[in-house]
Parts: sequence; structure tokens; C-alpha cells
Amino acid sequence: MKYYIGADLGTSALKLLLTDADGNILSSVTNSYEVRYPRAGWSEQSPADWWSALVLGIKQLTKDIDKDKVAGLAVAGQMHGLVALDKNDAVIRPAILWNDGRTDKETEYLNTVIGKQRLSELTANIAFAGFTAPKILWMRANEKDNFDRIAKIMLPKDYINYRLTGAHATDFSDASGMLLLDVKNKRWSPEMLEVCGISEEQLPALCESYQTIGTLLPEAARELGLNDNVKVAAGAGDNAAAAIGTDTVSKGKCNVSLGTSGTIFISSDGFAVDDNNALHAFCHSNGKYHLMGCILSAASCNKWFCGEILHTGDYSGEEKKITEDMLGNNGVFFLPYLMGERSPINDTDAVGTFVGLRPDTKRENMLLAVFEGVAFAIRDNLEIAKSLGIKIERSTVCGGGAKSKIWRTILSNVLNVKLDVPLVEEGPGLGSAMLAMVACGEYESTEQCADKLFKIKETVVPDEAIVKRYEERYEKFSKIYPALKPVFKAIK
Ligand code: XUL
Repeated sequence: MKYYIGADLGTSALKLLLTDADGNILSSVTNSYEVRYPRAGWSEQSPADWWSALVLGIKQLTKDIDKDKVAGLAVAGQMHGLVALDKNDAVIRPAILWNDGRTDKETEYLNTVIGKQRLSELTANIAFAGFTAPKILWMRANEKDNFDRIAKIMLPKDYINYRLTGAHATDFSDASGMLLLDVKNKRWSPEMLEVCGISEEQLPALCESYQTIGTLLPEAARELGLNDNVKVAAGAGDNAAAAIGTDTVSKGKCNVSLGTSGTIFISSDGFAVDDNNALHAFCHSNGKYHLMGCILSAASCNKWFCGEILHTGDYSGEEKKITEDMLGNNGVFFLPYLMGERSPINDTDAVGTFVGLRPDTKRENMLLAVFEGVAFAIRDNLEIAKSLGIKIERSTVCGGGAKSKIWRTILSNVLNVKLDVPLVEEGPGLGSAMLAMVACGEYESTEQCADKLFKIKETVVPDEAIVKRYEERYEKFSKIYPALKPVFKAIK
């Protein structure tokens, strides 16, 4: 029997799954690390922390098995982060993460001076603060010495892959989020490279997610306690990997993820981009394409509210105070813009906001507002998809937030979509293990692999009465951001 390792290089932790070729989960390990917020709206992490979490995690994961049976490994990574290495392979500065909002000037420059239309022609996308190209421009403008030392530009999971194999490679799904890739034609855009003042030699080689980029370097194999013949697949951005893990691999299939970010991922067979670029048009990890909307704070809102405000780690105890009759009858609204917002409003000035507090407001009303606010913000993205003529009646749901029964119920009713809950909730981890299986030849394609391994645990079906109440609530929610937008700018 052969084993596969799927790694999910998340924002709050590195999660590892050990599977067999039938997708059975033999063990799992999670190691957390810190996110640093050096200034309001900034977020950074140390790539060395990712590597330490991986080394420790793989040792824990494989402690009871015959390590020579590990055949393949792949990493699903938090997207868009800028990791810069100098000519000696040293990390130049902490990685600037996907939810960092420091690049508002650079984003504005790209969207207005280069222009949204030209950006869309070149990359199929417009600029959002978290994307990689604005970060490169920020470094050039604010840290010129660091910028001049850049020998290699990498995305978070590609840094891990580089340490594992020595290969400087990325996959199309993750590369799509750099705003440097000509997504339609799957090649770097020379014009975008020029705009950012970088050359193709600084960028990684482009691969499909399920291609092997190398085997473990002898020193990496020693450090991890694995055989150096373990194959490493290119891997994928975490959302595209989660799509494999949730069988979101054919036209029109949808997955919603409630991780640190919240995403709605719609798989498509061919390349398509909407006129307003409100959704991201990216490559998929199955070799095709997808559309995606991303909100910057999802499960992180729950973590923040329970941890920082209620001072509790007892998430399920808090949730139990929310009863079903409260759904759609809550007086409080929450705008989940703790890190500003990406899709669809693209506003780095937006901040988290409670509206509707009264003397009788209880903690459960506020927690419910947090769950609902995240669901409404995801609904904002679903509305964009609907306006493009995409019909979504059913979706999978994954990510840490999807473990909460009440949150799944709220989401299903706010979206009015049936939600399939996978047997394996760790979408990116399972998806990356599946990419490793395809790279090792266990399956012919990601489709074949997902078809065989994906299993549904249960389905949440919307309830007509609750849906109706949420329609009214959503209409009210939709009025709050436009009214506060100028206020957010003024209080910045
Ligand atoms: C997607 C995005 C987030 C991160 C989270 O565009 O920025 O979902 O990938 O890890």
C-alpha cells in the first residue's frame, strides 16, 4: 500500500493529511503559527514558520507508519502571498499575505493608470490589494533595497516546494492570483512583468497542479524523515485544491469555503471572464478554469468575536445559544470587513461593523450577526454569479467554519442553495493529496480521482420559511455598506 501526504498551508495553521490511494484518512496533524499585523490592515508571516510547521507536522504524521511507503506529497497554499528570495536563497522580508491591504495606492494605479480594461485583457483580472503584482510595486516604491535584491519571487506553497525539491515552480491556479499571468493562454504576461519591473527569470516555471516538479532533496528527506524518492506535485492554490477535494471539477459545480477567508468557487470547462471582473477568472487545478469570489474574513470573524471579544474558545458552547427560531429574526447586522474587503466591493477602507445594537441585545444575537454577516457577504458574490447567468442550486461546503451545524444552516438558507457536507471536511488537504496521487499515476486525471474518492456526509436543505426571512434581511444588509462607504473613508 502506498501513502500520500496532502498539506494545506493555511493562514492560521499548516494542516496535514496522510491518506491511502482510496482516500482513507490514516492520520492528520495541525500546527498553528502566528500572523503578524505590523500596521492596521497589514498582515505578514514568516516563511521559516511554515517550514518548521511542515517538518514537525510530517514527523508527527508519519511516526507510526513505514515511511518508505510514502509515494507522493503536494501542498495547497494560501494564495497571492509575496515571498521574495535573494541570490543566496535567503528570504528577504516577511511574506506579505493575501489579506494585506497596504497596497491601496498600487492597486489604484494599476486599475486606473494601466486601466481595468487593459489589465483584464492581459490577465483576465483587475487589481485587488491582496494580489501579488501590487505587492511587488509596493516593495519597489517603499523598500527599494529589498526590491533590488530579489532573485526569486514565489507564492507561499512554492517556497515550501522549493525547500522540498529545489525546483522553482508554480502551478497555473496559484499563478493566476499574481496578476502577472495571462490566464487565458497560461503564460506570463510580458507587459505585466514590465509594469512591475521584474523579469521572467525571477518568476517560477509554470506547471499543471498535478504534474511532478521533482523528488525530495536529500537534505529535505533527512529533515522530514522520509525517503528521497517521494514525488512532489506542483500543488495548487488552496481554493483550487479544495475544489478537487470536494469534487468541484466539472462545469457549473460549486464549492463554498469557510476558512480564514470565505470563497465561492465555480468550476468551468472553458475560459470565461465577466465584463466587470467582479469575480476572479483563474485557472483550475484540473487543467481548466474557474470563477471565484473571495471575502477576506469568514471563519476568522468567529475566531475574533469568540476569542478577542467574548474571551472564550468554547465555540460550540456559544453556538448552542443560537436557536433555529432566531434565524432570520435577528435585530443585529454585522459587516465582516475586519481586513477590508475583496470581492465584490474591493475596498481596503471598509472595516468590521455591528449595526442594530439595543439594550436587549445579547451575545448570541451578536454571534448570530457574525455568522449571518459572513453568509450575506458570500451571497454578494453569488449575486454576481447569478447576474452572469450562472445558476447554482447545489454546492459543497468546506473549511473550519463548515464544522458548525448552525452556520451551515444559515449559509444554506441565506444562499438558498443545498449544501453537501463532505465526509472529509479538509478540502484543500484532501485535494492536495489527490493531486499527489495523480502525479504518481494512481489515477489518470483529477476528475477520475475526485469521482472515486469524494463522499458526501450529509446535505443541508434550505427551509422555505427561513429563506423568505433571510431574503428580507439580505435586502436590509445590502443597504448598510453603500451608506457607510464614505464614513469608512472618512474615519480611515
Ligand atoms: C483567494 C484568497 C484566499 C486565500 C486564503 O483568492 O485570497 O482564499 O487563498 O488562504
